[in-house]
Amino acid sequence: MFWFRVSLLIATGISQWMLNTNSLVNSYEQVPLDGQLNWMLSEASTGVNIPASVPGSMYTALLAKNLIQDPLYRDNDNKYVWLGNSDWTYYRNFTVSKSVAESSKVLLVCEGLDTVASVMVNGKSVGDTDNMFVRHAFDVTGIVKEGDNSIIVGFRSAVLEALERDQKSSYEIPPNCPPPVQQGQCHVNQLRKEQCSFSWDWGPSFPTQGIWKPIYLNAFSAAVVQRVSAIPKKVSGQWQVDVDVIFDVNEDLTEVKGQVQVDVPALNLTLVQDVTVSSSQGRAKVVLKVPLARDVLLWWPNGYGLQNLYQMTVTFTSGSDVSSRSFKVGFRTVELIQDPVSSDSKKGLTFYFRINGLPVFLKGSNWIPADNFQERITRDRLRFLLQSTAAVGINSMRVWGGGVYESEDFYELCDEFGIMVWQDLMFSVALYPTYDGFLQSVATEIRQQVQRLKHHPSIILWAGNNENEKGLRQNWFKTQDNFTLYYNDYVKLYVTTIKPIVNGEDDSREYLLSSPSNAKESEKEGYVAKDPGSELYGDIHFYENVVDQWNPAVFRVPRMASEYGIQGWCNNESLASVFAPEDYSMDAPMIGHRQHHFNGNAEMAAEVALHIDLSTSSDAAVKFTDYIYLTQINQAMSMRTQSEHYRRYQSRLLSDGRGLTMGALYWQLNDIWQAPTWASIDYEGRWKMLHYYAQHFFQPTLVSPYLQDNNTLNVYMVVDGVPSLERRDNVTGELRFEPMSDIDDIKKSSVPAPDVSDTLAAINKATSGRLTLTMYNYASFTPLKSWNVDYSINTTADSVYTASVSQLVSEANCASRDNCFLHFSTADKNNAVTSTTWLFLSYPKYSNLPRAQIKVVAVRNISPQVFEVDISSDAFALYVWLSAGDVLGRFSDNGFHLHTPTATVKFYAANDVTAAKLQENLKVKSLSDVQ
Ligand SMILES: *[C@@H]1O[C@H](CO)[C@@H](O)[C@H](O)[C@H]1NC(C)=O
Ligand SMILES: *[C@@H]1O[C@H](CO)[C@@H](O)[C@H](O)[C@H]1NC(C)=O
Ligand SMILES: *[C@@H]1O[C@H](CO)[C@@H](O)[C@H](O)[C@H]1NC(C)=O
Ligand SMILES: *[C@@H]1O[C@H](CO)[C@@H](O)[C@H](O)[C@H]1NC(C)=O
Ligand SMILES: *[C@@H]1O[C@H](CO)[C@@H](O)[C@H](O)[C@H]1NC(C)=O
Ligand SMILES: *[C@@H]1O[C@H](CO)[C@@H](O)[C@H](O)[C@H]1NC(C)=O
Repeated sequence: MFWFRVSLLIATGISQWMLNTNSLVNSYEQVPLDGQLNWMLSEASTGVNIPASVPGSMYTALLAKNLIQDPLYRDNDNKYVWLGNSDWTYYRNFTVSKSVAESSKVLLVCEGLDTVASVMVNGKSVGDTDNMFVRHAFDVTGIVKEGDNSIIVGFRSAVLEALERDQKSSYEIPPNCPPPVQQGQCHVNQLRKEQCSFSWDWGPSFPTQGIWKPIYLNAFSAAVVQRVSAIPKKVSGQWQVDVDVIFDVNEDLTEVKGQVQVDVPALNLTLVQDVTVSSSQGRAKVVLKVPLARDVLLWWPNGYGLQNLYQMTVTFTSGSDVSSRSFKVGFRTVELIQDPVSSDSKKGLTFYFRINGLPVFLKGSNWIPADNFQERITRDRLRFLLQSTAAVGINSMRVWGGGVYESEDFYELCDEFGIMVWQDLMFSVALYPTYDGFLQSVATEIRQQVQRLKHHPSIILWAGNNENEKGLRQNWFKTQDNFTLYYNDYVKLYVTTIKPIVNGEDDSREYLLSSPSNAKESEKEGYVAKDPGSELYGDIHFYENVVDQWNPAVFRVPRMASEYGIQGWCNNESLASVFAPEDYSMDAPMIGHRQHHFNGNAEMAAEVALHIDLSTSSDAAVKFTDYIYLTQINQAMSMRTQSEHYRRYQSRLLSDGRGLTMGALYWQLNDIWQAPTWASIDYEGRWKMLHYYAQHFFQPTLVSPYLQDNNTLNVYMVVDGVPSLERRDNVTGELRFEPMSDIDDIKKSSVPAPDVSDTLAAINKATSGRLTLTMYNYASFTPLKSWNVDYSINTTADSVYTASVSQLVSEANCASRDNCFLHFSTADKNNAVTSTTWLFLSYPKYSNLPRAQIKVVAVRNISPQVFEVDISSDAFALYVWLSAGDVLGRFSDNGFHLHTPTATVKFYAANDVTAAKLQENLKVKSLSDVQ
């Protein structure tokens, strides 16, 4: 057993006396008030008065009673605007025991009220709130009584409140209203509410009201644990855990004496310490530094090692109050490296993460709220989404700043799957008020949220907002004439108010003011950089919807791309629940209604048409469903091109300083409704073609060919899956990332190998081998010619082969370049395949594709939810797309090309299903079916 010291006590509040807590008879009790249909929900103007569940919102309560249709059906979002304009009241009766009623302290804990609410217990007002991200503990001592009690949580329309606040504001806080195409509500920036609940360019407006998190009574004598947070840290080579214990306290007491016990069973660690808790304005916290005497197993990102986690339990005992919290911690270090890229300071700073001492390329995506109605997001749904994420090799996810601070379940699953989280604070594409009450509320929000989340090893970064630095600098909000006014507000919010709180709560991670930003350089330039989108500093967001995104020359060369994307429709099957038959038509009103991005449908069609001919079917429904498939091809190809472009630049520095790109987080992983959006997994959980492509473009060892210019093929090998080191040229000072190459490097590092020779073997396998190119003509399955090249690379991404396209075409006798297809494969010294891919030499619209008849030949059960599906084709087929109709699940691959007459893919069903039933639902098509 170790003893440790209480290293900090919050300043003492003003109180009259101190109780001997041991003399109190009653002990800590929690009385849950949430549950299924045990509240009533009412609205005055309509007389609605119905049983409702908590957590919940008025939309799901009305839907459960069939008083409204599915809000996502067709344009019901517009039909139900009145719901958001009305005031909704939740109320119920509850019974309280004698011991609870007589407790020295009874708090009504509301972990989340959405958003503008006042709370009454037994007819007395106990508190108000206007911030859905804040946990409240309202004092109801002496108000709750033994026996029957009542509670009323009265919500005010967030829409009307936001309008009113705008009117009251002494000056405009833009952007006022969203663009008309979003069909949303105005002034959401006036409220600390999920910003996208008033609409976004990928989602509808459902301005929810409701009790969205647990609600309960806490009855105790002196103090109980509200929350425990812990940050493992390496201090002088030795691990320690900084544990914060945050209390709900009886403020009538000057101080409370008690005992904290910390247990980490897997480390045989138990610590017991006497502590004294004192409170200031109801806040009480003690901080313990727990040194670890023994070695721990490290937590690694997905693809780099295991996600070792340790259960930790913290128990506080004070007289009869006994309360505890359990959670998991992971041991890992994180550094955000911003060093000069070379000895020439004009070339800018690096921007990359080092985890456990190793540079790690972020292969990632961006997360938006998984539902308009948070109460519908189950742990199973999150598990499905995050498992799908990890399954395609994603190791990082930005939690975007226009949604919510996600649930415990979300971050626990990220810890478990090794998904590093870039956590935005919830401010997005807007300017914000800075009056005192607003800033105070924000301060409470940020303190609580950082305390709540900071023990998760998955979180690697805090960022103050989404795109607000860029928006302010680039005059998105028409604030140019009053720049200083809004600039000062910006600094007041993200620098003066938020920064000290985040830094004070967490000195183990960086806080960036904005995403994207120039990071250190933005700070140097006064927090709003002259060019926040600079390629030489920090991260960028990239959106260009009128360029050819299958051509890598159009992309930028940043240090990191934390957003980039292009739209594609959700899967056809996922529209079935929200579309009527007449909606399946290119120019149906619903097609416009679901598109929330200005000019989005025209841009998407134009992007498709650059590469593929649109269907000419005379059947409107066929033409539209073909189009869905074509937009998904275009999206998958565009994102493949851009993602591989970033990966190829990770160890390359151009003479102007651009390069060393160490992250590619595409926009966006998930969807909030069935629509054309940037997502790779649609709202109903079906993978779009992009998600299948991610598993190829994010594979750890990647052969990546591209056309450097119209006639030059360049083939890169990218091996960021193996441990690497930073090395600098001793003359130019230029940085590059080199795969570890000898036993000494590996031994000195924290590489998670069971044994050094395994790691070395894996490195050797990736960094040298044989590249084989094979050329086909679409007219035949028989290859025309193959070329072999031995390669060896000494950085994590390098060119291994260049060739003239016309020469390859002529050597292979391929006739016309428009019909030539190149297949690439790499193998190690034992001829084991390490990576495969392909490249066209022309876009499909120029090609003469044979009409391929593809059939599902057989479906075999190989375990209860896993099937093998054999397909055959009578001709070369591009973008072979399998769908399973109503059978939910995913394929091992999809959207692939058949250059062989047969292929077998696996199907992973989400639920039990028979092979016969699956076969009945299977459909397969390829590009020649729709042209
Ligand atoms: C709560 O109790 C009061 C008094 O018994 C009763 O009039 C009222 O209907 C109850 N409310 C609910 C929601 O059950
Ligand atoms: C923990 O302690 C138990 C009993 O004292 C012992 O059997 C076990 O080996 C220890 N575990 C570790 C990891 O040291
Ligand atoms: C600038 O702000 C002032 C008030 O502070 C306001 O009167 C004026 O209209 C603003 N100008 C612009 C262009 O927004
Ligand atoms: C590239 O080559 C193709 C085929 O030779 C040709 O049709 C096309 O115009 C060329 N594009 C450019 C930009 O030169
Ligand atoms: C620079 O490195 C090379 C080998 O990488 C070495 O031969 C040379 O001596 C070094 N020069 C200096 C000045 O350190
Ligand atoms: C790395 O390989 C390149 C050629 O691929 C070669 O020019 C360079 O000298 C090598 N660098 C080192 C440090 O071995």
